[in-house]
Amino acid sequence: MCIRFLSWVAVTLTAVTAAQGQPLSTWMLDSILARQDGITRSRAMTKQIENGIFQEALRAAIERSDDAAQRGRWTEYHHRSVEQGIQEALNASKDALDYGLDRLCLARSLLELPPNGRYDQHALQALRESVQLQPRNALGGLWYYANPPAPYNYYGDASYSDGMYGYAPYAALWGSITGDESLNLDTALTQLELVYRNARDPATGLVKHGYELSHNASWADALTGASPIIWGRSLAWYTVGLVDALELAVARSPGVVATVTYHRIEALLRDIVTAEIEAVNKSVNETGRYGIWQVVDQPGTPGNFIESSAGALITFALAKSLRLGYMRDKHGRVSVLVRRMHQDLVETFVRVNQQGTLDYLGTSAMASLHQPKVDYVYYVNLSVTTNSLIGTSAFVLASLEIERMG
Ligand SMILES: *[C@@H]1O[C@H](CO)[C@@H](O)[C@H](O)[C@H]1NC(C)=O
Ligand SMILES: *[C@@H]1O[C@H](CO)[C@@H](O)[C@H](O)[C@H]1NC(C)=O
Ligand SMILES: *[C@@H]1O[C@H](CO)[C@@H](O)[C@H](O)[C@H]1NC(C)=O
Ligand SMILES: *[C@@H]1O[C@H](CO)[C@@H](O)[C@H](O)[C@H]1NC(C)=O
Ligand SMILES: *[C@@H]1O[C@H](CO)[C@@H](O)[C@H](O)[C@H]1NC(C)=O
Repeated sequence: MCIRFLSWVAVTLTAVTAAQGQPLSTWMLDSILARQDGITRSRAMTKQIENGIFQEALRAAIERSDDAAQRGRWTEYHHRSVEQGIQEALNASKDALDYGLDRLCLARSLLELPPNGRYDQHALQALRESVQLQPRNALGGLWYYANPPAPYNYYGDASYSDGMYGYAPYAALWGSITGDESLNLDTALTQLELVYRNARDPATGLVKHGYELSHNASWADALTGASPIIWGRSLAWYTVGLVDALELAVARSPGVVATVTYHRIEALLRDIVTAEIEAVNKSVNETGRYGIWQVVDQPGTPGNFIESSAGALITFALAKSLRLGYMRDKHGRVSVLVRRMHQDLVETFVRVNQQGTLDYLGTSAMASLHQPKVDYVYYVNLSVTTNSLIGTSAFVLASLEIERMG
């Protein structure tokens, strides 16, 4: 696999000088580290989810590595990344008010790979309490963000599908470690289903960016409150949230597979990945590309583009769902599709730069429902950046899965 990959990379990418013999996953990971990403303080709105997915990518690579020196170096970097987030998480009311659900990524990281082997109880306690303080809509659905900073408008009770990446895996893990009955796989299911029921696009079965139950936002669908557009990255976060919640629950309490909750989350995941495979099929049929589009259900429409972070996150979610048996693939067609999706990412977005590290192109800026207009033009007009930590980390995770497929 490695050899085939590298010879292919060598003919496709220019200036392959360094890191020969390294698979793309760890080459991309070491490129992130070489830029010192994920450990410097940042004021970006996306920093919590960015650091969260980065820590997951690093943790997954550590788990796969059989090189003790490499594991040590990566683990130390992981600690630094986690530790720089702790200080600002220690006040539960502030957590609930001033940060979105993405903050919960930190709690997950603290539980999965505690710095120096010790849980930081203060941060964990504050983050746990902050879930209790998070405002909820009339159905009990968690708002995504109570008090977003300027220039984003406050308007109340929107739930975002991307909020489920922070919430669901953490809830599953926390519940299985502590036995907490108000934060566990059951509450993850409740939140996941509320988003699904209200933000599902009936035409495709895909999940839109979010919903707003009180219909205060001008964009809210008259019936469900759904936002109008299926945005690739929020759909992708939601999907990874489902897969990871299942995996984390099973790892600690294998008996959970016999529960109704587990089966309902698994069924939800199957529905979503089936719809995503159909969306990729539609893209292949209409544009020849194995990609996830910024506006997912409109491949090839003027202005629309294939987006690199959603593509990597969904490739990761599909490959991991296959590996863990959440999805059946009797004829091997899904495996073929997933490999082609990954290959499309490599060809389109991965470049070797002059330092011999990898760049990852084509990641969309953040989209927010805290905007007066969230229509097609809004999403396709967003800029794309190179080496967004979301894109690079998602590519590491996707590549680790593809390399495991052999
Ligand atoms: C915690 O945050 C709240 C809300 O921002 C603030 O009112 C309070 O003073 C903070 N408490 C401490 C001890 O800093
Ligand atoms: C929605 O708007 C109404 C009327 O303006 C207001 O009373 C209510 O608090 C708003 N709801 C939310 C969740 O912001
Ligand atoms: C996608 O296309 C493949 C091959 O063209 C086909 O085998 C598969 O059934 C399609 N899947 C879906 C969900 O439409
Ligand atoms: C592929 O596209 C053609 C024409 O655009 C359409 O008729 C056909 O139904 C599409 N097939 C699939 C599997 O989407
Ligand atoms: C498109 O992006 C430009 C530059 O960021 C911005 O000035 C403009 O308002 C955007 N247009 C729409 C319709 O969002």
